[in-house]
Amino acid sequence: MQDHKFSFGLWTVGWQGTDPFGGNTRRAFEPWEYADKLAELGAWGITFHDNDVYDFDADEATAKARVSQLKDAADKAGLVVEMVTTNTFSHPIFKDGGLTSNDRGVRRFGLKKILNAVDIAAEVGATTFVMWGGREGAEYDSSKDYFAAHARYAEGLDTVAGYIKEQGYDLRIGLEPKPNEPRGDILLPTIGHALGLIATLEHGDIVGLNPEVGHEQMANLNFTQGIALALYCDKLFHIDLNGQRGLKYDQDLAFGHGDLMSSFFTVDLLVNGFPASPDAPRYTGPIHFDYKPSRTEGIEGIWDSAKANMETFSLLADRAKSFREDPAVQELMREASIFELTEPTLAEGETVADLRQAEMPDPAAKGEREYRFVELQQAAMRHLLGA
Ligand code: GCO
Ligand code: MN
Ligand code: MN
Ligand code: MN
Repeated sequence: MQDHKFSFGLWTVGWQGTDPFGGNTRRAFEPWEYADKLAELGAWGITFHDNDVYDFDADEATAKARVSQLKDAADKAGLVVEMVTTNTFSHPIFKDGGLTSNDRGVRRFGLKKILNAVDIAAEVGATTFVMWGGREGAEYDSSKDYFAAHARYAEGLDTVAGYIKEQGYDLRIGLEPKPNEPRGDILLPTIGHALGLIATLEHGDIVGLNPEVGHEQMANLNFTQGIALALYCDKLFHIDLNGQRGLKYDQDLAFGHGDLMSSFFTVDLLVNGFPASPDAPRYTGPIHFDYKPSRTEGIEGIWDSAKANMETFSLLADRAKSFREDPAVQELMREASIFELTEPTLAEGETVADLRQAEMPDPAAKGEREYRFVELQQAAMRHLLGA
């Protein structure tokens, strides 16, 4: 477990089990009460929202004191505070969003709250600032000018990123996409949507992604493919690992307790990189879990579930290593032409006219060739199951 920089949001282990149909099933802890136990279980870092540490209406002195008490506890436990984020979703003021509310006063309030959290992030030594716009969205298409909404989103992001640069903070922003929940539809629903908006920003160089397994899966998308695109664009700044089973409410299960095969290939990409592109960008950030201990669990279950995330990741990392090192797998990868995909389709200096002149393969023969993808996948299955 020591090989990986495991990190947990305070709101994960701190979730008291409330849902739309019932109240808390677990008592509240103070934010600094998690540090020792998380460190003991093998965690390397923690993360938090401003309001995981102090109340929405706390005065400045109280907020500062509580943050420094948490930072002390983390230091004593040997934990890094690697990421900070802002709660712009719980208070009713944010019911139509923080950066994209139709109400300009709300937007100004939201932006100020985010900038305050950026200062806290720098103060505690975090290197990532996550922005999850859970309330930036709509239930009704009649309710919003979506052009203006995207413009205000971009304005907000550029203001925050510009402020980070101006202050000289060693921070990068990680946008966290989610298709829905709590809003009916959220404005940056997927990794691809977020990349699109980032490309329009003035300070987009320090704005990237914090993709969450379950969120892409709630949109019926392939998480591993999504983070592969983020890596291709050099935008995988941070990650939220958890589990989700199919198209339903955001389950935030422990990592691997959803689609296990998909989790295997996510871990394979994170720890081993792309199979045939050794020079491609690699993920070097923390292995951050954003899950919820199920409502059925008591206090012991909080720690069982925290451990489960780290154990599953470590087990999958081990299996993924054996998969990659297996000579039979390497041979199947060759048969599958996986290495051939790294060869540019046109030769150096070759023109479209040259291509038109070139000898082409026999379509019938190519249509009949074997790729042996199923056998390769089954080889992965054998390693995954430890067969
Ligand atoms: C969710 C989200 C949130 C964010 C977190 C960071 O489950 O919908 O993951 O938990 O990650 O609030 O802002
Ligand atoms: Mn989630
Ligand atoms: Mn998340
Ligand atoms: Mn979450």
